[in-house]
Amino acid sequence: MAQKIIIDTDPGQDDAVAILLALASPELEVMGITAVAGNVPLSLTEVNARKIVELAGHTDIPVFAGCDRPLVRNLVTAEYVHGKTGLDGIELPAPTIPLQTEHAVQFIIDCLRKEPAGTVTLIPIGPLTNIAAAFERAPDIVERVARIVLMGGAYFEVGNVTPAAEFNIYVDPEAAKQVFASGVPITVLPLDATHQALTSREWVDAMRALPNRCGPAVASWTDFFERFDKAKYGSAGAPLHDPCAIAWLIRPELFEGKDINVEIETKGEFTAGMTVADWWGVTDRPANALFIRM
Ligand code: RIB
Ligand code: CA
Repeated sequence: MAQKIIIDTDPGQDDAVAILLALASPELEVMGITAVAGNVPLSLTEVNARKIVELAGHTDIPVFAGCDRPLVRNLVTAEYVHGKTGLDGIELPAPTIPLQTEHAVQFIIDCLRKEPAGTVTLIPIGPLTNIAAAFERAPDIVERVARIVLMGGAYFEVGNVTPAAEFNIYVDPEAAKQVFASGVPITVLPLDATHQALTSREWVDAMRALPNRCGPAVASWTDFFERFDKAKYGSAGAPLHDPCAIAWLIRPELFEGKDINVEIETKGEFTAGMTVADWWGVTDRPANALFIRM
């Protein structure tokens, strides 16, 4: 039986690859895609999400627009990484599938209430605003979530948007704090893991050579995305951040991690958005996440 998932996303080239991977995986049943403000404003992330499902020929997958800003902070975006559209690298036609009229937060609530408890996994690959808002609005759904598998955070690899914080957590640390305190089983794919999942020239060339529309699009997106990381980290290859969350779902044996306590810093002048991962168990704080390190 395919695993039911909701992908919460801020496309983003790496989000796009993650969504395509999920749609191509028979192990997964995508119940819906919920857009959130992050890499670019919501007005673009929702359009990008619709462009991606249409590119994949999955016009049956409903796309919802969610929160257009973090719970309490002003929105911080990342056009410097993803380009002004959020999906720079290839021009895609405007989507023809409609945006669902239901708010993404309400869709998450309704879906979790409708499906049998413990059968839906949430896959946040952007800021955690929609997830936290759903838990706030409908606390009864928290115990119905099978697991949260998120891309976000960093510890040994340090931050990518500040020295201490990874982008998804940094944009909405208050939302992340709520999610990590929810009691839902969580798997964290942090930069510690995703910075090891780099594209290679051979991989990109193989994508470009695929006789379909998605392969060349993935090649163009990862080439565009790589320019930033090569300049910043000096490493060849683009880190496949968000696809790691999907990869863990379908091939968990490829990854290694530890059940540890992870707290979210929301007050620090220099450390807001930091995932304080107690990897060596030096506190008595209870484990609340499977933190993937490779
Ligand atoms: O820090 C990487 C994360 O931030 C990825 O999810 C990327 O898409 C951006 O949202
Ligand atoms: Ca993302």
